Amino acid sequence: MSLLDIEDLSITFPVEGGPDVPAVEGIDLSVEAGEIHGLVGESGSGKSVTARSVMRLLDDAEVGAKRFDYRGEDLYDKSEAEMRQVRGDEIGMVFQDSLSALNPVMTVGEQIAEVVRHHGDVEESTGLLSELRRKYITGTSTSAPSWRRAVSLLETVGIPDPETVATSYPHQLSGGQRQRVMIASALGGDPSLIVADEPTTALDVTVEAGILGELRRLCDELDVAILLITHDLGVVAETCDSVTVMYSGSVMERGRTDQLFENPVHPYTKGLLRSIPEGASTGGELTTIPGSAPEPTDRPDGCPFRDRCPAAFDACSEPLPEHVVDDGHVSHCHLYTEGDDPGEVTWDAPAATNGSLDGTTERTHTEVTDG
Ligand SMILES: Nc1ncnc2c1ncn2[C@@H]1O[C@H](COP(=O)(O)OP(=O)(O)OP(=O)(O)O)[C@@H](O)[C@H]1O
Ligand SMILES: [Mg+2]
Repeated sequence: MSLLDIEDLSITFPVEGGPDVPAVEGIDLSVEAGEIHGLVGESGSGKSVTARSVMRLLDDAEVGAKRFDYRGEDLYDKSEAEMRQVRGDEIGMVFQDSLSALNPVMTVGEQIAEVVRHHGDVEESTGLLSELRRKYITGTSTSAPSWRRAVSLLETVGIPDPETVATSYPHQLSGGQRQRVMIASALGGDPSLIVADEPTTALDVTVEAGILGELRRLCDELDVAILLITHDLGVVAETCDSVTVMYSGSVMERGRTDQLFENPVHPYTKGLLRSIPEGASTGGELTTIPGSAPEPTDRPDGCPFRDRCPAAFDACSEPLPEHVVDDGHVSHCHLYTEGDDPGEVTWDAPAATNGSLDGTTERTHTEVTDG
């Protein structure tokens, strides 16, 4: 049983007087206990709304799924009170923008200690009066178990001099330190899963590498699973055990990282991999496929990628099929539904041109040369 097991998830934003926005359409997503699973895709592909659906934080959207299980229990069957426990106790979240996610008028130590008291493994009163007294008068005592735990969590995420940093306010810290604080806070309730939405996108490359290394270490040492959202395939290659590739609200391909990188089958995945320079550890930004993704309200029938795909043919206007390439490796592409491996997809158009692949929709199977 997967830790997180989502089947046929759709997320739609109702729009008054306009067409509704089908942000995500029928995707599967699963995360195994103790692994880092990458959710990768271009801007607007639906990564963040998917992440928020796991925390049940999408008040303004209609969320539907055949299955939305965490540890075998449907998250959407839970009451709001049960869900508040799940957020923090079971699933922690790290957002890209730490400055707006952290409380500017509380020290980071207080913020983490509060999470620890409410969700973690310490015996300390969390009654309203004690919390108000802490908040407005005394602060958390530096000898309280929750404060000690906060300091030790800061140390866990690689912050030097955690005692001093705990007494700092968010704006006094660097972006990289704040991201580490967010991770420490997410760890406060000893969760089994952390959902991290582009946790390093705003940071420079060296700081990013440090934090990704930290996530990898936490995953290995604390056995916490991480759903890591990124638009950088280099990050996936360096950090993730398995990966789901999204495009315009659909899953194109998923599998173990080695399966996807060694044997990508979907033309979209192949196109993305083209954009990673040989041997480079980062910089695989998903920008080198000509053209741009359609808006959710403007997708073609069938495969949403077909207008940009060099191998598109008639069948691509039909609903996406599922093709099991190998154990755990699945592609959603019509090229593979005819029983044979079509071989190498030729990406002969130059990367990052003026944005159009002329006549791609007229191309047929024959354009796909045997590899
Ligand atoms: N509150 C909302 N109302 C209407 N549409 C929305 C809302 N939130 C998101 N969307 C739409 O859903 C789609 C998916 O958005 P999402 O933020 O999940 O993309 P993303 O993959 O996280 O992109 P990025 O890499 O830019 O963060 C987009 O087309 C977006 O415009
Ligand atoms: Mg996003």
